[in-house]
Amino acid sequence: MSTTLTASAMTINDETFRQLRDFIYEKTGIYVPDNKKYFLENRLSKVIKEKNFRSYEDYLYYLRYSANRNDIARLFDAVTTNETFFFREPQQFEVFSNNLIPQILKENGQMGRKDIKIWSAACSTGEEPYTIAMILLEKSELVSVRKEIYASDISESVLMSAKRAMYGGYSVRNIPPQYMAKYFKDSGGIYVLSEQVKSLVKFMNINLIEEKEVKQLKGLDVVFCRNVLIYFDDKAKKKAVSLIYDVLRHIYL
Ligand SMILES: C[S@@+](CC[C@H](N)C(=O)[O-])C[C@H]1O[C@@H](n2cnc3c(N)ncnc32)[C@H](O)[C@@H]1O
Repeated sequence: MSTTLTASAMTINDETFRQLRDFIYEKTGIYVPDNKKYFLENRLSKVIKEKNFRSYEDYLYYLRYSANRNDIARLFDAVTTNETFFFREPQQFEVFSNNLIPQILKENGQMGRKDIKIWSAACSTGEEPYTIAMILLEKSELVSVRKEIYASDISESVLMSAKRAMYGGYSVRNIPPQYMAKYFKDSGGIYVLSEQVKSLVKFMNINLIEEKEVKQLKGLDVVFCRNVLIYFDDKAKKKAVSLIYDVLRHIYL
């Protein structure tokens, strides 16, 4: 059975879908169930056209035997879902700010440390780590504490956008007005984040299911790992959680 290509639409046959799905899963942990063939068609049709592949089989063959780092990065960009915005899930940030930070300062202080190390483990376009950075900057007890925020993602295109730190109205809609006034400049409807906030965050490309990549970090006080494991199957979830566990400094129960 072969994949069909017309000027307007291409479809994936069941066997090619399963092989592409498995290839993506092995590389990313993202699992596309059998009833979501349309998801891969939607996400990959653009890549296929850009690269002039005649069929999904040709693309799969290329991915397996000829793809370079850029091709794999393009695949990751295509299959990831990058929805995010500033101050998403505000109750988590409240617990972080009011409960976790004091506890971390106390325990790190007891060990003679004056630092706090946070990782935003699937940061997309940066709204989450930059929200964390603004919260840290607002806390007077952290003025003389060294603040390190690492932010990572598997998609290069979102990381590039995160480093630019320029946002539209959708992203900033939940930011409290006092933060908006203090940390953003309105440049004709594009909201430009201040250097003070940007300078606290170090962006990296880390795949959450790759042990060597996760192990670049260590001694973390808090890991934000939000809205990413939902795309993984149980096996990939367990792997990611176990790798994250290993890079934490303490476990708070
Ligand atoms: C929906 S966004 C979540 C953004 C942010 N954490 C939030 O809650 O607003 C999910 C992100 O996970 C990233 N992602 C997917 N698989 C990943 C993997 N294996 N390793 C690292 N990041 C991954 C995607 O590229 C995407 O940017």
